[in-house]
Amino acid sequence: MFYSILSQLLLSAAVASWSVSYHPRSMCAFERSSVDFSCMFDYKDYHTLNTICWFRPEAHQKQDGSQVGIFVYNSEAAKIHQLYKNRTTYANRDKNCSLQLHNVSLNDTGMYFFRYETQYYNGKYTGPGGIKLTVAVLHFRVTVQTQKVNEDIHEGDSVTLTCSAENCTPEQKPFAWFKNQRLIPEATARVLQITSVTHSDFGNYSCGLKNSSTTSADEILLDVRYSPKNVDIAVLPSGKIREGDSLTLTCVSNGNPAATNYSWFTIKEANVSYVGSDREFSIKSASQNDNGQYFCIAKNDMGSQNSTAVSLKVEVRGPRNFLLTATAAFLFLMAVLLVMFGLVIKRKQFTSKKQPTEQTPTVTVTEEIYENLKKSPESEENFTTHVTYSDLRLPPSTSDRPRCNSQEDNTVIYSLLSYKD
Ligand SMILES: *[C@@H]1O[C@H](CO)[C@@H](O)[C@H](O)[C@H]1NC(C)=O
Ligand SMILES: *[C@@H]1O[C@H](CO)[C@@H](O)[C@H](O)[C@H]1NC(C)=O
Ligand SMILES: *[C@@H]1O[C@H](CO)[C@@H](O)[C@H](O)[C@H]1NC(C)=O
Ligand SMILES: *[C@@H]1O[C@H](CO)[C@@H](O)[C@H](O)[C@H]1NC(C)=O
Ligand SMILES: *[C@@H]1O[C@H](CO)[C@@H](O)[C@H](O)[C@H]1NC(C)=O
Ligand SMILES: *[C@@H]1O[C@H](CO)[C@@H](O)[C@H](O)[C@H]1NC(C)=O
Repeated sequence: MFYSILSQLLLSAAVASWSVSYHPRSMCAFERSSVDFSCMFDYKDYHTLNTICWFRPEAHQKQDGSQVGIFVYNSEAAKIHQLYKNRTTYANRDKNCSLQLHNVSLNDTGMYFFRYETQYYNGKYTGPGGIKLTVAVLHFRVTVQTQKVNEDIHEGDSVTLTCSAENCTPEQKPFAWFKNQRLIPEATARVLQITSVTHSDFGNYSCGLKNSSTTSADEILLDVRYSPKNVDIAVLPSGKIREGDSLTLTCVSNGNPAATNYSWFTIKEANVSYVGSDREFSIKSASQNDNGQYFCIAKNDMGSQNSTAVSLKVEVRGPRNFLLTATAAFLFLMAVLLVMFGLVIKRKQFTSKKQPTEQTPTVTVTEEIYENLKKSPESEENFTTHVTYSDLRLPPSTSDRPRCNSQEDNTVIYSLLSYKD
């Protein structure tokens, strides 16, 4: 009786120092990845550990650790459930009860508890609270949030893009964001925040993990609505406009949604007048009356913008014009005739001078070559042939220049002769 009471007292004193701490208490892991259940525990050092284990309650059991379900890990290996055989690594260091679970699958979703038993009066202790494991299922998806629900996104709005997997999303890894399939290098967090969107943020967004081959999210369009921008006028055909030409002026703009209403105006002698309401403004047959400046206004639900004005100048194609052309043609003809005449005269002078020029061939040949060739094994007849090689640009001889010796001469000769046909 006394011993029984004493032992009870001793045990409760001992249990008071028993503890298990898990960190963190809730985890999210990708399918097929490994997860670390970080855990420390404590007990009186004079107790001997009997059994240590990690278990998870089965689906029909209480999830608070009061009911031991299946063994994920057990110091008696035979008790480990088939599903967890060879899938765990236990720290097995003093008071370190950390467990790694490998190749996580959706079936692993649930609560995990660490439990130990001592020989001392069959002491048993389960770390309260346990760890909750959720398994993230790929692939990712992008969600867009704004202050206003179910409303269009306008310029200036704050927009939050979030990258999520199914069930949960592990936070620790760096993320990758893509806009129109191009990486946004500075965006590495799970959340991409744009405090004030502009029209340039319009585009398709996707996300994934950095440096990972895991699939990325389906693209989602960030549909920023904005009033027409870069409003401009395209004139077709381009180039000079002559009387009678037909022309089309098109009001081009960039807006989301595309501009729906257009207005055309002319400015003539400082008077502005409204002339059209289509995207295109056509002139069937241009005349002097069409001269002036034109501009358009493109409008959508967001707002409107003016184009800069373009000037139309219709060229006259009247009799005056014809006269000008005729005069120009006449002058050109005259010029051609003059040039031809001049050429004929020049040619005559040239042919008369031709004979004497041919009689003085390459007298300008340098002395050196002359001498070299003289010593060549070839006969003098070759002289004239080689003389034509004066364009080899040998330096002109000067009286004070030393003459080459015979050895050198030979080499020069051979190189020259090699050109002979
Ligand atoms: C676990 O691994 C051991 C050897 O490392 C092997 O003999 C055994 O078959 C494996 N068990 C399972 C269920 O994969
Ligand atoms: C417990 O063991 C794990 C695995 O060996 C290790 O990563 C961890 O740092 C240890 N914890 C402490 C507090 O020593
Ligand atoms: C991981 O588990 C799945 C089943 O959940 C299995 O098909 C696969 O072969 C396992 N992979 C490895 C590397 O053990
Ligand atoms: C966004 O994706 C859709 C569908 O693939 C495509 O039709 C559209 O042109 C894309 N928009 C941009 C701005 O790339
Ligand atoms: C835009 O055009 C539509 C139809 O062409 C017309 O009903 C509407 O009133 C116009 N809006 C403005 C603001 O001019
Ligand atoms: C421009 O407006 C003024 C005053 O309204 C008018 O007298 C003048 O004739 C106009 N000019 C043209 C080219 O329409």
